[in-house]
Amino acid sequence: MGADFAGRTALITGAGRGIGRAVALGLGDAGARLVLLARSAGQLEETRSLLLDQGVPAQRVQVLSADLADEKQRDRAAAAAIGQGRVDILVNNAATVEPLGPTVDLAAVDLRLAFEVNVVAPATLAATMLPGMLAAGWGRIVNVSSAIVANPAAMTRGNAYATTKAALEAHTVNLAAELRGTGVTVNAYRPGGVDTAMQAWIRDQDPGRIGAGLHERFNRNYAEGTLITAEHSAAALLAHLAGDDTGAIWDVSTAPARA
Ligand SMILES: NC(=O)c1ccc[n+]([C@@H]2O[C@H](COP(=O)([O-])OP(=O)(O)OC[C@H]3O[C@@H](n4cnc5c(N)ncnc54)[C@H](OP(=O)(O)O)[C@@H]3O)[C@@H](O)[C@H]2O)c1
Repeated sequence: MGADFAGRTALITGAGRGIGRAVALGLGDAGARLVLLARSAGQLEETRSLLLDQGVPAQRVQVLSADLADEKQRDRAAAAAIGQGRVDILVNNAATVEPLGPTVDLAAVDLRLAFEVNVVAPATLAATMLPGMLAAGWGRIVNVSSAIVANPAAMTRGNAYATTKAALEAHTVNLAAELRGTGVTVNAYRPGGVDTAMQAWIRDQDPGRIGAGLHERFNRNYAEGTLITAEHSAAALLAHLAGDDTGAIWDVSTAPARA
């Protein structure tokens, strides 16, 4: 096991499956109290069961079903999270890849939704959790980004995703600078190509809508076995999280070795 997060409370968005679930299991193993957030209550319950199976006591797991695109639900969930005590670690992992398709078809309502989930939710959750972190002189905020930011042209017809993840990284580095010296660190994490429902969903889309190039690339990556597991990616995130970096863009391929 790596870092010890005993006594810390972690809020993980998108904890019902994929990378978020694997991060939750890793943080549970490292002793943290967990607040699991996503829309699907059933998937959150599955994550809770897995945590209990690995020996995490039930009182260390709180489940919050909420749609991060909905400001009222989001605020209610954030209030419920801090209602049980300070949140020390915020992992903003939930995201949407939609809308995919030619930008000529882009509707403002869909673009706003992508910004709401991928940028506004992480930023406002951070704002809500920060007073407690600042008062304690310790906090960790991780925003799960994507390698798309380094190479936006690699995901044509994914304009909203590329744009929102770039905004998320700018938010991360700017906030880290604002908080330097407070004990609260803020970093972004690029998780690599990970075998999750998000990847499967893209593979299943109509190539006529998302573009033959994108469709072919996601299917080829899967067929060639280049995707890593959610557990692998989560372990790299947690290895980074054990350090005191701030304002960094972490990548799965540059994770420090864990003790
Ligand atoms: N998989 C990859 O190859 C890859 C590559 C680069 C970056 N990423 C990033 O890694 C993160 C996790 O992706 P993943 O592959 O693990 O995806 P995933 O398997 O689809 O899981 C996404 C999680 O986010 C939750 N979520 C989505 N929209 C939400 C909303 N509006 N409100 C609340 N929760 C919401 C989902 O639950 P509900 O649907 O139940 O709400 C689910 O628990 C994302 O930020 C993604 O952009 C993934």
